[in-house]
Amino acid sequence: MKTPPDIQSLIDLANEARKLAYVPYSKYRVGAALQTKSGKIYTGVNIESAAYPTTMCAERVAIFKAVSEGEREFETIAVVTDNGGSPCGGCRQVMAEFGLETRVLIANGKGELVKTMTVAELLPEAFTPEHLVNS
Ligand code: THU
Repeated sequence: MKTPPDIQSLIDLANEARKLAYVPYSKYRVGAALQTKSGKIYTGVNIESAAYPTTMCAERVAIFKAVSEGEREFETIAVVTDNGGSPCGGCRQVMAEFGLETRVLIANGKGELVKTMTVAELLPEAFTPEHLVNS
């Protein structure tokens, strides 16, 4: 089945962004494209560090770029890797911070949609900002 054009173009943007991934250690390129409810798109790539744990994932780069520009409501995030890999736990948590209903598109390096789900499906029983109310 053919992927709808708006979904495909978000995947294509994430895939294109992957070219800028800074991955001298893992060589594993990840690209993300985040569409806000206001219609803007922010891309992100993974940025590695010689001090390995300070590496930042593509999804979080895209989300942090958006939030730092005043955007907090997200419609969809596309994540592209060579093999259609799934977002890590840390990225799932950051996605959950900004809404469990955000749609997550997972695609491979050919730009093919492998899986689609919501953040709620990706991170069941999420700890969210609501849990901190009245604490
Ligand atoms: N990576 C991401 O960018 N996003 C994820 O959700 C999973 C992992 C990056 C981090 C590191 O640069 C490389 O992939 C291998 O772990």
